[in-house]
Amino acid sequence: MKHTTEMMISAQEIDQKLDELAARINAHYEGSDKLLMVGLLKGSVVFMADLCRRIKGHVEIDFMSVSSYGSAMTSSRDVKILKDVQSDIDGRHVLIVEDLIDSGNTLNKVREMLRLREPKSLAICTLLDKPDRREVDVPVDFVGFTIPDEFVVGYGIDYAEQYRNLPYIAKVIPQE
Ligand code: PRP
Ligand code: MN
Ligand code: MG
Repeated sequence: MKHTTEMMISAQEIDQKLDELAARINAHYEGSDKLLMVGLLKGSVVFMADLCRRIKGHVEIDFMSVSSYGSAMTSSRDVKILKDVQSDIDGRHVLIVEDLIDSGNTLNKVREMLRLREPKSLAICTLLDKPDRREVDVPVDFVGFTIPDEFVVGYGIDYAEQYRNLPYIAKVIPQE
């Protein structure tokens, strides 16, 4: 599809938001031991890298790969688990780290999978939330930005695998 991109959230705004998010997360987990941050590949990689460096204490990171989008612009309900975490979840404080919650299908599936493994606590942190597109309700504990229903890319988020390397969030504008 022919398109252009237009900056929506600058690198500096993201940086400030990460400081705020990390402060809330650090306060929430103060005194709890061994936080496990679980990122969902690939979109969360950039956010995870920046967020985990702001979290204090014993922190471990792990990744899961689930895919529902392929290269299409719309969500499918069919969430596939491509790679599981390597860590034991049982008895751990687990924080799922996601770049974007759209229909909620991805996080709903992942949350349920991890919940069955009996973590000590299970919370979700997302950089972006698009509540207008929600199909399933998912409890989100830490939200960076609530955004309107625009197709966004950058800071880990792709359109047909492109734009993950943009240091800011942009919206995709179709042409013709
Ligand atoms: C995107 C995004 C979220 C998910 C949100 O991932 O990174 O993980 O879709 O959509 P949902 O709330 O409607 O489920 P995608 O499946 O494109 O994989 P990717 O992270 O590898 O780009
Ligand atoms: Mn993703
Ligand atoms: Mg994607």
